[in-house]
Amino acid sequence: MTKLLHLDASPRGPRSHTRTLTDDFVTRWVSQRSEVTVAHRDLGVRPPPHVTEGWIAAAFADPATRTPQMRADLAVSEDLVDELLGTDVLVLGVPMYNFGIPAMLKAYIDQIVRVGRTFGFDPEAENPYTPLLPAGKRAYVIVSTGDSGYQSGGPLAGLNQVEPYLRTVFGFIGLDDLEFVYAGNDEFGGERLSASLAAAHDRVAELAV
Ligand SMILES: Cc1cc2nc3c(=O)[nH]c(=O)nc-3n(C[C@H](O)[C@H](O)[C@H](O)COP(=O)(O)O)c2cc1C
Repeated sequence: MTKLLHLDASPRGPRSHTRTLTDDFVTRWVSQRSEVTVAHRDLGVRPPPHVTEGWIAAAFADPATRTPQMRADLAVSEDLVDELLGTDVLVLGVPMYNFGIPAMLKAYIDQIVRVGRTFGFDPEAENPYTPLLPAGKRAYVIVSTGDSGYQSGGPLAGLNQVEPYLRTVFGFIGLDDLEFVYAGNDEFGGERLSASLAAAHDRVAELAV
């Protein structure tokens, strides 16, 4: 059984290009397989909570010493980490907001990057950090932007804080097999937008096999 986790980070509904593209990806991917489960999280509409004083104290406490309140403070995080640990393939729809990821996705990332659960920390070790996600996971990240040319080698690549950040943070916990697909020109519309969306759907069709 292969498990796919589908995350959407756009607060837009049918107008969202990332949603349309992640839906296309998941539909194609599922149609090629028999033994699959798909979980969907709508981070754009129902984002996880931001971390709090209680969350931070609990996350960095020895698990054996956690109080019932501390465990309650970490309940959402534990569920999201368990889900991610059990996922084989991650499909992520990411609107570019102010050159980076939307706050709703950052709230999710703050919940799943957890000492002792998704990364290890040993202050005595030469390299204190160890990624803890099991090997073999893969992520497909579909990014939509108002302008275009943010992909590697493009004229606006230097402004792109989405891809470098996601590669860094997912690599830190052990997921370094990430494939990015870009759609652009949302703010221009017309032929420029439709050509970009068509190319992104073509790329999705190539990848979702
Ligand atoms: C708050 C906000 C910030 C944005 N910042 C950028 C940006 O920095 N660069 C860019 O090219 N487009 C930017 N856009 C445009 C979005 O990236 C674009 O509309 C994209 O298609 C949104 O994804 P969605 O269609 O899935 O909702 C921004 C849009 C919003 C609402």
